[in-house]
Amino acid sequence: MIKKLIMATNNANKLREVQEILSPLGIEVISQRDAGADAEPEENGVTFEENAVIKAKAVYDITGLPVIADDSGLCVEALDGRPGVYSARYAPKGMECEKLLKEMENIPSGKRNAYFQCDIAFLNGDICRVFTGKCSGEISFEARGNNGFGYDPVFLCGERTLAEMSGEEKNKISHRAEALKGLYEYLKQIL
Ligand code: IMP
Repeated sequence: MIKKLIMATNNANKLREVQEILSPLGIEVISQRDAGADAEPEENGVTFEENAVIKAKAVYDITGLPVIADDSGLCVEALDGRPGVYSARYAPKGMECEKLLKEMENIPSGKRNAYFQCDIAFLNGDICRVFTGKCSGEISFEARGNNGFGYDPVFLCGERTLAEMSGEEKNKISHRAEALKGLYEYLKQIL
């Protein structure tokens, strides 16, 4: 019976989101720091799945308790899937949108398809399950909106960018929400 899960992150926003989603199942989610397992493994996987498992394993090896870890990023079709797993390292923090718009300045409308992907790994002993979520859209020609983070201001979902949506709206369609839904359904089954 799982009563407590460690999330392999110290990002307070991610932690809160996961706590809210899993609390109806009676599962307490704590950060790796609160679990006394501040691992910082090298994220050298070539897929989101590999990196999520690397992060989960690093914390599991220290605690021996059930762990979840996520990895996410933006894949742009015209850039052969870049920045992908390198999304966090593509540009200095706060400069990612500017750099992406510049790199895509000659790519015409209709060829700017992109998607966000999030993989969440659940690791407990021999059991390792990965849940994937995607959010499809296209890259705009200019940054718009003040909400969200990272590439949200240049990611169009319909008429608006993710940064023009409220957190609540984004959480209904986001890659992270979809992956978390998979995790929720799985945990509900095994409880
Ligand atoms: P990580 O999953 O915390 O390693 O972050 C990956 C990177 O992908 C972030 O630093 C962002 O640049 C980008 N990213 C992931 N999810 C989102 C999102 O929902 N909006 C905007 N950028 C995102």
